[in-house]
Amino acid sequence: MAFLCRRAASLLKPSGAAPALLSAARLYSSGAQYEYILVEKRGEKKDVGFIQLNRPKALNALCDGLMKEVGEALNAFEADGDVGAIVITGSDRAFAAGADIKEMQNRTFQECYSGNFLAHWDRVSTVKKPVIAAVNGFALGGGCELAMMCDIIYAGEKAQFGQPEILLGTIPGSGGTQRLTRAVGKSLTMEMVLTGNRIDAQEAKQSGLVSKVYPVDQVVSEAIKCGEKIAANSKIVSAMAKEAVNAAFELSLTEGNRLEKRLFHSTFATDDRKEGMTAFVEKRKASFQDK
Ligand code: CAA
Repeated sequence: MAFLCRRAASLLKPSGAAPALLSAARLYSSGAQYEYILVEKRGEKKDVGFIQLNRPKALNALCDGLMKEVGEALNAFEADGDVGAIVITGSDRAFAAGADIKEMQNRTFQECYSGNFLAHWDRVSTVKKPVIAAVNGFALGGGCELAMMCDIIYAGEKAQFGQPEILLGTIPGSGGTQRLTRAVGKSLTMEMVLTGNRIDAQEAKQSGLVSKVYPVDQVVSEAIKCGEKIAANSKIVSAMAKEAVNAAFELSLTEGNRLEKRLFHSTFATDDRKEGMTAFVEKRKASFQDK
């Protein structure tokens, strides 16, 4: 089991400024440990990148260091040609209990504004490879937002989702008001954001926030299975599919359909589209080369 390391990487880093992606890829292959997350490749073919948030004493509160490491691990998986999907999970008790309140307590407006506080979290939503959140326990505030930045959410039966920032005298700052509204609609989002009420896994499923609910001890393995299924398809075509679905949140129907059509046309520039259709006609399993 190869856990991967940020610190060892900085020791290995050559002098001179290495591009961020290159240094992340190097660090990924260095084989040692991050401080706040566990990172490895899972699945029979080791084609699913796996990131486990690992700050159990703080219920995986998303301190700055943790989110930087998540970004580094995502960069490394994005650059790894063997990885076709990524799973992010926490512990049975907490996916993540939100941004780190102790770290935020004494921040000033000036620091938040000039440092564009939380902007680097967006990396999770810009990864081209499909990302699955496997959520057990609390997914609150930034934890719920982190799950919603992922492409698919699987929940354990005891998962709880919420945006309780109002109880702290603030509001969601990493997409909660936007992504939750798109996922579950206005009324439930307003209720959650204005009262801090949480919803359980069943309600999250009924409202469309999560796609599947599993027993607590099966969520991660089911997410890995889903990742393996995705990884067996063409990586380049999966990225196009993801881009097209995400465009539905940004564009009008006409513009979205136009983009989808262009991406569909683009699949005809790939060897994998040819292979997929030829395999169907020849009644055999397609062998995608990600080209
Ligand atoms: N930040 C920092 N530390 C946190 C934390 C957070 N978000 N959530 C929990 N912890 C810490 C607690 O302070 C506690 O640490 P100590 O043992 O050192 O006191 C430890 O984790 C265990 O927590 P509790 O004792 O509170 O555990 P509990 O089982 O009684 O309650 C909980 C669990 C309901 C999740 C409760 O911890 C809680 O309400 N946490 C805060 C949730 C929250 O408000 N999240 C939103 C944060 S703001 C945000 O995320 C902004 C954004 O949009 C990005």
